[in-house]
Amino acid sequence: MIEFWLNNKRVETSMPPGMGLLEFIRNHQSLKGSKLVCKEGECGACTVLVGGLQDGELRYRSMTSCIMPLANAHHKHIVTIEGLNMEALSPVQQAMVDTNGTQCGFCTPGFVVAMTGGLMRSGEVSLNHLTQSIDGNICRCTGYKSIERAAEALLAPLKTMPQDHGPRIPWLIQQGYIPAYFSRIKNQLAAFGPTDQPKTDDKHSPTIIGGGSDLMVQRPRQIESANLTPIFDQSQLKGIQWNGDFCEIGAATTITELAESSIIQSQIPDIQRFASYFASHQLRNMSTIGGNIANASPIGDSTMLFLGLDSEVILEKEREPRIVKLRDFFLGYKQMDKKEGELILKIRFPRLPKGAFFNFEKVSKRTYFDIASVNAACQIVLDDKHLIKVAHLSAGGVGPIPLYLTQTSHFLIGKELTFDTLKEALKIANEEASPISDTRGSAAYKRLLLRQLIIAHFVKMSPELVKPAQLLILAR
Ligand SMILES: Cc1cc2nc3c(=O)[nH]c(=O)nc-3n(C[C@H](O)[C@H](O)[C@H](O)COP(=O)(O)OP(=O)(O)OC[C@H]3O[C@@H](n4cnc5c(N)ncnc54)[C@H](O)[C@@H]3O)c2cc1C
Ligand code: FES
Ligand code: FES
Repeated sequence: MIEFWLNNKRVETSMPPGMGLLEFIRNHQSLKGSKLVCKEGECGACTVLVGGLQDGELRYRSMTSCIMPLANAHHKHIVTIEGLNMEALSPVQQAMVDTNGTQCGFCTPGFVVAMTGGLMRSGEVSLNHLTQSIDGNICRCTGYKSIERAAEALLAPLKTMPQDHGPRIPWLIQQGYIPAYFSRIKNQLAAFGPTDQPKTDDKHSPTIIGGGSDLMVQRPRQIESANLTPIFDQSQLKGIQWNGDFCEIGAATTITELAESSIIQSQIPDIQRFASYFASHQLRNMSTIGGNIANASPIGDSTMLFLGLDSEVILEKEREPRIVKLRDFFLGYKQMDKKEGELILKIRFPRLPKGAFFNFEKVSKRTYFDIASVNAACQIVLDDKHLIKVAHLSAGGVGPIPLYLTQTSHFLIGKELTFDTLKEALKIANEEASPISDTRGSAAYKRLLLRQLIIAHFVKMSPELVKPAQLLILAR
């Protein structure tokens, strides 16, 4: 039985855990405000807020309900546009009206829900934060400028808004941004007890499902009737902590949680920028790192990042753990060193030494909200004599698997950081790559991108390394 709060109503259902939440909301609860458009997480018209208790705090995240499995709503508060409606328009709704932020109106519920979610996060709310909260929403009519003006119009009154989560919800209620029933939700969720997500049947090769952002797009009908093991809220798969000199990340950690973690920020100060290249706000809230790795896409962004961090995967079946180097985990296209039913428990990487350089680059047809043509990560550590002591380079989109550039990384060890070293490293990386032509670019274009991204790593690390005129030499 799946039970949760849908707006101001307690819902219990025995519908399949793999049913899309949007289908349940629209067809079984007759709430038609959340729109069905792409059904692939691409447009944001179906955006809902998902509230849950985290360390005793009620936190809301926006997600695309079309590809969210019903199982992930268990013991949560799901908020659709109907759940935000009050007698008067909320300031978000009013701003959309005042700035002509809505024309045909089909996308508008998604924008209003996502933007309201942007107000419910902790910390200062800037224009940048508000526009980021709607980076997964598409509008075919307005050209976005009027919607940006709506976000801008919201800012002035928010100056007195409390920064912390705790007092923020009462403030938003008092100011008429969200209805009064939100004040009861924290206690109502606490009354559910721990989130033990319901499984269909775990005896016969159940399908593990995290955020569902791959599975619900790739095979939605099969997932609806599949034996599922939902892991999105399993506490043993959540959280980021130090274990000795290893940073351990639970496999059900989302991209948003990764980017917000102070531990990860201490190791990768640019993590929030790197994460912003991953899908959209809504998708980052539901995409897990375990799902990104187990999907085995040759262009998985977090997979590439973890290869550059020289990570290991901790797997488990019937309480028997097993550790595999991530660089050895991918055996062929979509093939992994993972036994049937084996769960990815954690990903871990060794603490970066002081002064370590780490960078992630991604080129896609659109800068944001697009999968990569080629992506790449690089970790370099120099010793006292300025020789390269540690080198880990990875590249996606240039082979059938997420590629750890073994030969290139090995070549760099012990070398001086010079133009000639880079030139030789580029040659070796080119030999290691075997891209194919597809919709994301020709094989030749991907080789070019691989070269440019490796140059970008080195120039970021040492801006003097390559003079503009020398770029032509590297192109030969
Ligand atoms: C609109 C859209 C945009 C996207 N943009 C990007 C992007 O920019 N970059 C990118 O890299 N990806 C992108 N993706 C792909 C997807 O969001 C990611 O791969 C995501 O990390 C998958 O995580 P999930 O939890 O949603 O996976 P799920 O769909 O739940 O699972 C994916 C696979 O992993 C398995 N699995 C999940 N967790 C575990 C576990 N703990 N142990 C073992 N197996 C497990 C599942 O059985 C399934 O085979 C995008 C997807 C969509 C729909
Ligand atoms: S319908 Fe497009 S994201 Fe859900
Ligand atoms: S107002 Fe028509 S799609 Fe946005």
